[in-house]
Amino acid sequence: MTKNIAVIRGDGIGPEIVDQALKVLDKIAELYRHTFNYTDVDMGGCAIDKWGDPLPEEMLQKCVESDSVLLGAVGGNKWNDVPGHMRPEKGLLRLRAGMGVYSNNRPAKIWPQLSDASPLKKSIVDQGIDFIIVRELIGGIYFGEHKTEEVDGVPTAVDILSYDEKEIERIGRIGFETARKRNKKLCSVEKSNVLDSSRLWKKVMHRLAEEYPDVELSDMLVDNCAMQIVKNPAQFDVVVTENMFGDILSDEASMITGSIGMIPSSSLGATTCGLYEPIHGSAPDIAGQDIANPVGTILSAAMMLRYSFDMAAEADAIEKAVSDYLDAGYRTADIMSKGMKKVGCSECGEIITGMIRK
Ligand code: IPM
Ligand code: MG
Repeated sequence: MTKNIAVIRGDGIGPEIVDQALKVLDKIAELYRHTFNYTDVDMGGCAIDKWGDPLPEEMLQKCVESDSVLLGAVGGNKWNDVPGHMRPEKGLLRLRAGMGVYSNNRPAKIWPQLSDASPLKKSIVDQGIDFIIVRELIGGIYFGEHKTEEVDGVPTAVDILSYDEKEIERIGRIGFETARKRNKKLCSVEKSNVLDSSRLWKKVMHRLAEEYPDVELSDMLVDNCAMQIVKNPAQFDVVVTENMFGDILSDEASMITGSIGMIPSSSLGATTCGLYEPIHGSAPDIAGQDIANPVGTILSAAMMLRYSFDMAAEADAIEKAVSDYLDAGYRTADIMSKGMKKVGCSECGEIITGMIRK
C-alpha cells in the first residue's frame, strides 16, 4: 500500500522523537512492502519563527490532504510572551479543529516490565492498570471565546465553556463503541454538580445508554475521578469526558503507568485521516540532548497503522518490538532503574527498529 503521511516535527524534543518513529515506519515499509511518503509540515513555534503564524493555511491543507498526520510536540518558553491567538499551541488547536478530529483516544496501560516505575504502591499496580480515556478534542473551553478586558477598571479574563447536544452525542457514541470492543464498562466523567454543560453531558450519555444495553454506564464527578485514578485505577475500562477534563486526567493517568513518555494517542473524526501524537509536550529543558523517550511517538505511529491504514499486523510488530526492547532491559532516562541499560533517544529508535520482525 502507498500512504502519504504529513510529518510535523514541531519544537523542543519533537524533531528527535519523530525521527525515531520514521526509522520504525521505514523498517515496516521495507518488511511489508509498503510505500510511505512523508511531507514535512511546519507547525508551532518553528512555524511562528519561519512564517509568522503557528499554522499557515497551506500547512493545514497539507495535513487535510494527507492519509494521516504524525506529530511530535509544539511549544516552548521562547514563545511564552506572544499573544494568545499566536501561541504555538494555537497551531495545534487549529490543526485538530481543521482536521475535525473530535475523538482523542489516550490509553493508560502499564507495561509489566515497568511496574516498578509507577509511583503507585505495588498492591495497587498489581490489580492492573488498563483503561482508555476518550477525550472530546475540538469543543468546550478550548474553543469558546477567550478575552481579557477591563471591567470597571479591573482586568478581567473570560473563557467560555459550551457544548451542544450534537457534540456530546458524537463523542459519547465513540465512548460506547470503544467500551463495546473492550470490557463493556463506560465511565462518563463530568462536573454536573456545578456546570450546566456537564448536566447536558450527563443527560445525553444516559439517553445514548439505551442504545447500548450491553455497555454498563456509570457517572463520576471529575474531582472524584482524579482521586479514583490513583486510588483504584483497576476499576476503569473506558472513560469518556470533555476536552479540558480529558487533558488533565490523561496526564494523571499516564503518570501512574510509569512515564508520560510512553503514551501514544490517536485523534479521529469522520474520516480515516487521523492525527497521531504522543501525549507529552515539547520538553524544551531536555531538547537537543538525545535523552528524550521516543516510545510514545513510536507507539503513535503504530496506532496510525492500526486505526487509519488498517495494518494490524504491522502495528502488532511495532508493539512487540517495544515490548522486546523493554524485556532486553533498555531504558531511557525517564524510566531508568537499577540494573537496566540506559539508552538515548536515537539509540532507543535504532534498537526498536532492529527488533521489528515480520
Ligand atoms: C495535550 C496538550 C495540549 C492540550 C496543549 C499543548 C495545547 O496538553 O495534547 O494534552 O492541552 O490539548
Ligand atoms: Mg495535555
